[in-house]
Amino acid sequence: MNPFQRLAASSLLLALTGCHLPGRPKADDVVPRPTSITSFSVLYKQYCAGCHGANGQGGAATNLANPEYEALVDDGSLREYIGNGEHGSLMPGFAQSAGGPLTPVQVDALVHGMRAEWGRQGNILAGQGAPPYKATLVGNPQHGGQVYAGACARCHGAAGAQPGPAGNVLDGSLLTLINAQTIRTTVIAGRPDIGQPDWRGDIPGHPLTDADVTDLTAWMLAQRPANPGQPYPNNQPMTQPAGEAQPQAPFGAANGTRRPQQ
Ligand code: HEC
Ligand code: HEC
Repeated sequence: MNPFQRLAASSLLLALTGCHLPGRPKADDVVPRPTSITSFSVLYKQYCAGCHGANGQGGAATNLANPEYEALVDDGSLREYIGNGEHGSLMPGFAQSAGGPLTPVQVDALVHGMRAEWGRQGNILAGQGAPPYKATLVGNPQHGGQVYAGACARCHGAAGAQPGPAGNVLDGSLLTLINAQTIRTTVIAGRPDIGQPDWRGDIPGHPLTDADVTDLTAWMLAQRPANPGQPYPNNQPMTQPAGEAQPQAPFGAANGTRRPQQ
């Protein structure tokens, strides 16, 4: 090959391989470090969609793609819950400082992405009289039971009666898995993805007040069973005090000593 042929051959090779030497990875072949990802859609899909639903709706946990929710919640609370998790619920903490995978920049990318994708311009709750996101009053459970009867029972069933068409929200296991903020968020912002009304829609023409929501929450949490997940109330101590150990008859044995109490 003379120099001209060599040049022609190598430019042909470069043309065929798109200016890359064969075998050398291209920029977009390199897998990014997980901590360098700041795309909201990638982070959301990877870490959140499993519980909060694809596109922030239809999941088991809070409807994040709800403009009323986005208007209600402040950035600080979002950072706190995403970073450190929500005590008393199944929401895990995702910040590295809480043992999770996300850097502070990634937590911010999630907060800003949620606002941009699912919020609306301006504050859509301004002037609507929505109760505040965080409770500040002390709950009165007795009044809360009345709020439940007036605002919730028509869809969820009266306390102690058959569940209503929208399912039983006084179920002991459900109440054990959710906390006060979840009830508050659900009742104020609603869950348009599953048909839960916002604070204005429970009793048409009578929006719930801050006190109503706080009292209702206190009453619902007071309905938590002492021993969640157990089909029968069981008042017997789990362990016998030392020195009083007795042989345990099998559950439901003929002598009846371990029969469940009705
Ligand atoms: C293992 C399931 C799970 C995963 C994964 C998860 N969450 Fe949650 N999240 C929950 C639960 C449960 C709650 C409590 C509220 C409820 O029960 O709906 C919650 C609550 C929240 C809240 C507070 C809701 C409120 O009441 O204001 C935010 C915000 C939130 N999650 C965002 C996220 C984001 C962003 C991600 C991804 C980084 C994520 N979650 C991943 C289960 C999860
Ligand atoms: C107009 C009917 C209606 C009223 C009134 C109503 N709900 Fe619901 N609620 C629903 C429906 C529908 C669902 C979704 C049920 C399902 O997915 O199975 C729901 C779901 C819920 C959930 C579960 C949310 C979740 O994240 O899974 C809670 C908690 C709840 N409601 C509490 C309340 C409380 C408390 C009140 C009273 C302030 C109330 N609801 C009033 C219709 C209603």
